[in-house]
Amino acid sequence: MRRLLATAALLLLLVSLTGMQARPDDVAANAPEDSDRAAALNAVAITGTAQDAYAVFAETCSACHSARSERPKGDFGFILDLHRLSRAGEYVVRGQPDKSSLWTVIADGSMPPPGYEAALSDAERSAVRTWIEDGAPPGPIDPSVLPPLPAIEETSALVHWGGQWHPLVIHFPIGLLLAAALAEILFVLRRDDRYRAAAEFCLLVGTVGSCGAALSGWLFAADLGYALTTHRWLGIATSLFALATCQLAVRVRRLPPDDAPILGYRLALAATIGLLVVTSHLGGIATWGASIFGG
Ligand code: HEC
Repeated sequence: MRRLLATAALLLLLVSLTGMQARPDDVAANAPEDSDRAAALNAVAITGTAQDAYAVFAETCSACHSARSERPKGDFGFILDLHRLSRAGEYVVRGQPDKSSLWTVIADGSMPPPGYEAALSDAERSAVRTWIEDGAPPGPIDPSVLPPLPAIEETSALVHWGGQWHPLVIHFPIGLLLAAALAEILFVLRRDDRYRAAAEFCLLVGTVGSCGAALSGWLFAADLGYALTTHRWLGIATSLFALATCQLAVRVRRLPPDDAPILGYRLALAATIGLLVVTSHLGGIATWGASIFGG
């Protein structure tokens, strides 16, 4: 079991490291800056849905998926290149939105990522769908009436690096803090000091983990432009409560039983677990969507 866990952790580490290096092959400049190309697109005008779809991509997706971004997300960095988008067949199957991942990720709510600052309106969603139904024509696009591209705030490599640990690190405090609570319950039932020692150990390591989760979570949110305000502050509160609980646990061990803040310690532990459960739940929904519960 331990070996399995170690291998899984190592694999995750490798995957995250390779992810760091990944760059799309083609980071050539995209359409609007290139007026010759835009003119060429206009010349092969087919129907008029490209402009609307392009506007959606430019406004909502380009910060993460175009050559404008230093590190396009998900190895997909050419969303403003409609020619390549409709030709490659990788993300778009012409005329068939339901077979195009470009549409399905929008339809199932995974793009833009839940918690990202900007969501899509129904009109914007249907602009993308209609464009694919229309055969995903690469033009015409009239750059003069397009909305200006929003500013991209590039985060530093350190923020990017630190942030990618979040999905990995969070599992330690979740497991360890729950184990601490379980050990404390067993201590109450069995009065065996080993459970008390186990509770304190799990609590201390889980608290270190929760600080790591909070820090990496902050960087993760900064890197992806996530808002997720409730999840964020509840996560910070979980860490603070865990720290306070650690302090109480140490006092419970050191002081004679009559002076030990045993009730305070148990209440603090219970509050930490409560915060932990709500925070993890919100984080889980942000990552997997509420449909993970079969909805
Ligand atoms: C905040 C950054 C962000 C924004 C904005 C964003 N994406 Fe993504 N996108 C990602 C990340 C991160 C991934 C990689 C996800 C993964 O691998 O699980 C991704 C992956 C994808 C993929 C690839 C899925 C696959 O299975 O290969 C598609 C398609 C996609 N996004 C489309 C879009 C579209 C369309 C928009 C705009 C409506 C958009 N994204 C907006 C971050 C973003």
